[in-house]
Amino acid sequence: MAKITIADEQREITEVEAIAAYLGGHGIVYEQWNSGRLDSPDATSEEILAEYAPEIDALKEAGGYVTADVINVHPETPGLDAMLEKFNKEHTHSEDEVRYIVKGRGTFHIRPKNEDGSFGTIFAIEMEAGDLINVPAGTHHWFDLCSERTIRAIRLFLDPSGWTPHYTGTDIHERYAPVCWGPAYIAAGGLRPAGEGVGIQLNSTN
Ligand SMILES: [Fe+2]
Repeated sequence: MAKITIADEQREITEVEAIAAYLGGHGIVYEQWNSGRLDSPDATSEEILAEYAPEIDALKEAGGYVTADVINVHPETPGLDAMLEKFNKEHTHSEDEVRYIVKGRGTFHIRPKNEDGSFGTIFAIEMEAGDLINVPAGTHHWFDLCSERTIRAIRLFLDPSGWTPHYTGTDIHERYAPVCWGPAYIAAGGLRPAGEGVGIQLNSTN
């Protein structure tokens, strides 16, 4: 189940309806689907898309998305560190980032914008199997995998070519390490190791 961590306020939100309400207040859609329906490591992308076709079709109709695919990331994925480096710096997209987690975990950090254009309090959403999120186009955010470096997720697109990170050029992401990285980071004040990316602690164990 998802969890919201608001590090600057030292609080967490773990109850589903409260999570959905908090995210909804920031224009982010959060839903829980019936998970565990097809979590076999042998399931193909086509089988996953077929299993979740009713939900995917409903999202397509509601949001105008035209394509869906499945990403399958694990510690042996070639080029994983380089891939993660693309996601873990603050960026925006020109279309919504819609993800349903089939397996594994990951954390979105969101830096919300207020109506007057100023930024609000940064928060993190840890996503697990069964969680769906829609991060709207233009939202400042970044993404990290958790310590097991595994995620299988359905993605929906208006246009696959639109999934391009537009980096904001800040280094704000360096101040917020995902809680799901483990207690070593929490004890260090939640800071990322200076100059190091998501793979560092994790590499040392692989
Ligand atoms: Fe993104």
